[in-house]
Parts: sequence; structure tokens; C-alpha cells
Amino acid sequence: MNLSQLNLNPEVRILVTGGAGFIGSNLCEALLQNGNQVNCLDNLATGHLHNIQHLLGHPNFKFTEGDIRDLKTCQQLCTGQDFVLHQAALGSVPRSLNDPITSNEVNVNGFLNMLVASRDQKVKRFVYAASSSTYGDSKGLPKVEDRIGKPLSPYAITKYVNELYADIFHKAYGLDTVGLRYFNVFGRKQDPNGAYAAVIPKFVMQLMKHESPVINGDGSYSRDFTYIDNVIEMNIRALSTTNSEALNQVYNVAFGEQTDLNELVSLLKKNLSSFDPKIADVKVKYGPPRKGDVPHSLASIEKAKTLLGYAPKFSIKQGLNEAIQWYWKNLKNQ
Ligand SMILES: NC(=O)c1ccc[n+]([C@@H]2O[C@H](COP(=O)([O-])OP(=O)(O)OC[C@H]3O[C@@H](n4cnc5c(N)ncnc54)[C@H](O)[C@@H]3O)[C@@H](O)[C@H]2O)c1
Repeated sequence: MNLSQLNLNPEVRILVTGGAGFIGSNLCEALLQNGNQVNCLDNLATGHLHNIQHLLGHPNFKFTEGDIRDLKTCQQLCTGQDFVLHQAALGSVPRSLNDPITSNEVNVNGFLNMLVASRDQKVKRFVYAASSSTYGDSKGLPKVEDRIGKPLSPYAITKYVNELYADIFHKAYGLDTVGLRYFNVFGRKQDPNGAYAAVIPKFVMQLMKHESPVINGDGSYSRDFTYIDNVIEMNIRALSTTNSEALNQVYNVAFGEQTDLNELVSLLKKNLSSFDPKIADVKVKYGPPRKGDVPHSLASIEKAKTLLGYAPKFSIKQGLNEAIQWYWKNLKNQ
């Protein structure tokens, strides 16, 4: 993606927390391409060094292995930074149901540490990963930023608490923040392995091995699957905007298109069959629905368009074309 059109000053220094993870490593790469100095903080809990290996020798890139639960580390890393892109968290609804305490420690206490450190070190803007899970049990579609329901999981609570803290840090201390409610992000470098892998990379890996993907429920649950480059665009817009009205807000980050799980598997099979025709014959299995899952998700992206000029380039189909090429090239023989 051509970031130069988004006018992010290449002189600004940026700390990316969770920078060895899926979204964070893609952000580090994009910022380095823009000429920025990038500091990356990650404790490698769910991220991987291989995501940033190619960046480690870059003169503008510095990686620190450290934990956002340690305030001193946060203070040190925020020193001298103009902006923070806070991505570090423990993702996954099921993980938070299995271990709510650790999810809370990282996602809430760690988040608060990063806010305190950003305030103390006079960071100019704090842009953070919020989540569509904050819509909880609200029924209305599309989801509009100011209409949320009750959270359906500990993870959703942590992400909502982040928004509440960010708001208070603006009001009480004048720290400028922008919250980005990501909707099911997918793309290159998303981890396909482990118990808490996201559905797209997990299904792609299974289909590549001719194993049956298991859909939780009857496949009618739907999501607004969002390609990574749309997410990068929103982060850069949030950093570079000169519209003061656009700050201290939360935004949906999505494409604005609803796809159910059955459709998703059809799209994956069709796309992957062009690499290996046998994948067309792999059958899907169905399991019980998962606790804590929101049944349907579709974002309104009007607010992001109006206040930040967001113009997402990748539909789910275009994003899957890119992502599957990447998975085929990089993970086929794993
Ligand atoms: N991927 C999605 O669809 C999605 C949707 C909504 C919100 N989000 C949010 O976006 C952010 C990035 O998610 P992702 O998909 O890239 O996940 P990820 O797991 O790949 O990245 C998270 C990164 O944070 C790091 N981390 C975890 N605990 C840490 C700690 N205590 N100290 C320092 N680093 C720590 C991990 O090692 C990892 O590299 C998260 O805040 C997540 O909650 C993601």
C-alpha cells in the first residue's frame, strides 16, 4: 500500500506494542517503509520473532523483548516517542473464558500501564487496538460506534474497559487517543497454529492438508472479515490526521460486508482449488456453537469515512486472494 498518500510525517518516532504479532508486525513494516523510526515492544507470548526477522537489521528498527505488565518497561519504551500504536494484548474469546485473570492482567493492567507511560512521557497520540467484541449482545446491524450492548466474554470486557480508560485519560490528562475497533482481521503473518488460532488461517492450513475444517454451529454466524491492509490504512490515518474532531474517538475498522461461515469456507475452497484441485473435495464438519461468540457482525464504516477519510481498498474476496497466495507460498510445507 502506498502510505505516502496518507501524509504520515516520516520524522515521527513510533512505538508499536505487540509488534511481533500479526497486526503489529505488519504495522512495523509499513511504518519502516514510510521512513519512520520504529520501536517494537513484545513479550512473544503469542507473537513470533520470525514475523520481524527481516526487520531486525533495519537501521530505523529496534526490538525490545518486554512485557506491558511492567510499568518500568512501558516508561522506558515510551521515552522519546511521538506516537504509540498499542496492539499488545491477549486475543481470543475462548482464551479469555479459559483464563480470565491473565487476559485481564495483560489487556487491562497492561493497557493502563501504557496509558500512564504515554501520559508521563508526553506521547502526542495513543492509537490502540479496540475490538468489535465490544458490541456484545447488541442486535442491530450494521454496528454503529455509539450503540453497544453488554459484553459476551471476559475478552470483550477488557476491550471495552480500554475504551473507557482512553476516554478518561483524554479528559483528565489531555492525552490524545484513537480507538480502532477491529472486525475479524485476516492476512499475511496471522498465526494458523495453536488452540486459539483465528478461523481464516486455521481453515486455510487445514484445507491445504486436505483436513476437514470444523465450523462451530451451523455456519450461519457471520462476520465482517477485514483484510490487514485496510487495518494498516486506518492506523496510519489515525496517526496522520490533522482533524482535531477525529481524535478521542473510537472507530469501526472493517470493510462493511457480511460473510457467513459457510460462504467463507466456499470462498476458501474455491480459491485454494486453483493451487490444488483436490481441495474442492474436502468436506466441512459441524460442531457445537462456541460460548461467547457474537452471532452476527457487520460494521458501519461511515464514521471512519467521514472523520478520517477511510477508503478501504480490499473486499474479503480481494483480501483472500492476497492472503491465500501468501499462505500457499510461506506455509504450504509446514
Ligand atoms: N486479529 C483480529 O481479528 C483482532 C480483532 C479485534 C481486535 N484485535 C486486537 O488487535 C491487537 C493485535 O492482535 P493480533 O491479531 O495481531 O494478535 P497477535 O496475538 O498476533 O498479537 C498480539 C501481540 O501482543 C503480544 N503480547 C501479548 N501479551 C503481551 C504482553 N504482556 N507484553 C507485551 N506484548 C504482549 C503478543 O506476543 C503478540 O505479538 C490485539 O490487541 C487484539 O486484541 C485483533
